[in-house]
Amino acid sequence: MIFEEVIPKQATETQLHDVYAVLCVIESERLPDDPPPSIDVFRTGFCNAHPMMVSRHWLIRGDSGNAIGRVDYSTLRSDENQHLAQVRIGILPEHRRQGIATLALPMLIQLAQAEQRTLIMARTYSTAPSGVAFMKRIGAEASLTEDCVQARLAAIPDDIIAKHISHTPNGYKLHVWRDRYPDANLSDAVALRGLVNEVPRGSLDVSDLTTTPEQLRDEEAAYALRGIKRWTFAVEHISSGQFVGFSEVFQSAGKPHVLQQGITAIGKDHRGRGLGWWVKLTAIQTIRTEAPEVTVIRTENAIGNAGIAHINATLGFTNIMEETIWQVSLSDLTKFVNERRAGSNIPAGK
Ligand SMILES: CC(C)(COP(=O)(O)OP(=O)(O)OC[C@H]1O[C@@H](n2cnc3c(N)ncnc32)[C@H](O)[C@@H]1OP(=O)(O)O)[C@@H](O)C(=O)NCCC(=O)NCCS
Repeated sequence: MIFEEVIPKQATETQLHDVYAVLCVIESERLPDDPPPSIDVFRTGFCNAHPMMVSRHWLIRGDSGNAIGRVDYSTLRSDENQHLAQVRIGILPEHRRQGIATLALPMLIQLAQAEQRTLIMARTYSTAPSGVAFMKRIGAEASLTEDCVQARLAAIPDDIIAKHISHTPNGYKLHVWRDRYPDANLSDAVALRGLVNEVPRGSLDVSDLTTTPEQLRDEEAAYALRGIKRWTFAVEHISSGQFVGFSEVFQSAGKPHVLQQGITAIGKDHRGRGLGWWVKLTAIQTIRTEAPEVTVIRTENAIGNAGIAHINATLGFTNIMEETIWQVSLSDLTKFVNERRAGSNIPAGK
């Protein structure tokens, strides 16, 4: 068995097809009702990474050269959170429980050590319970669990939408930005992005993130390349001229029928005035008109974020899975690997 690094811009057709084939299996386990992306959509996404992330990728090949899994290692391109590394391991079902994911750990530990990272994070989904069992086994802590919920757009009651849209909260103005933030509002968009830090983070050992105007523009360029459309619903507090809340929704080329609801956040001083309802329902109304091919709206809400959960439940969102973010310190992970090694499951030097 070998770990073969795949460098997106230099990848061969065989490597791309092999990564794609593994991804399709793992994705269909995670979201069984979603169609797989086309190879072209996958290729564009894989070769044009998110500009805030630095990622490395490996294919795991069995003895006959067949692809049996993949490993990704990512870090943030930012001044903050330099102690973090995020990993993703996917093994094809017929090759599981043979210690293959465990074999990937020493390589990931070495990478993290070389960059002075101290914390490893990974995501699992309740639709793929093997991931949950694996993370528990390696000693990781479930630090944030979110409900992934979705609703059929056509089933969201018109009267609820009409009620909340017609009731314009006093003293506020709603702006709709399509794809690119207007030049005149770029600094407002930076301020709004700061509200991301108000979203509950459970016990995750991560600090606040700041975003620069240049990063927002790079992100937009990457979205355009990947065929991702974005609508931003931004709330201006008229008397101060400040932007105090927003909601963003995304439509990707690979799944045009799914609207992914990104962050909805209203600044602390402006809550309790119906602004959350206002932005969310304006978003739904706008998408119904501007992207009629969308049939489903999907979002995540942290368990314990009662405000958003209440809105989602009223709109008829139902749970499709739970998503958990796990963290484990590099020292605990190293201890786990060394103990397994002592039990002779991992060859020395791996
Ligand atoms: C999670 C995953 C990568 C594990 O791969 P794997 O090669 O089967 O893992 P290993 O064989 O190294 O398992 C190590 C230990 O994890 C635990 N474990 C893994 N899968 C398990 C399962 N289905 N049920 C119970 N325990 C499990 C076991 O303790 C196992 O050791 P053991 O087999 O000696 O008892 C694989 O199941 C997978 O691809 N799942 C879907 C993707 C995913 O959820 N990834 C999350 C990790 S980023």
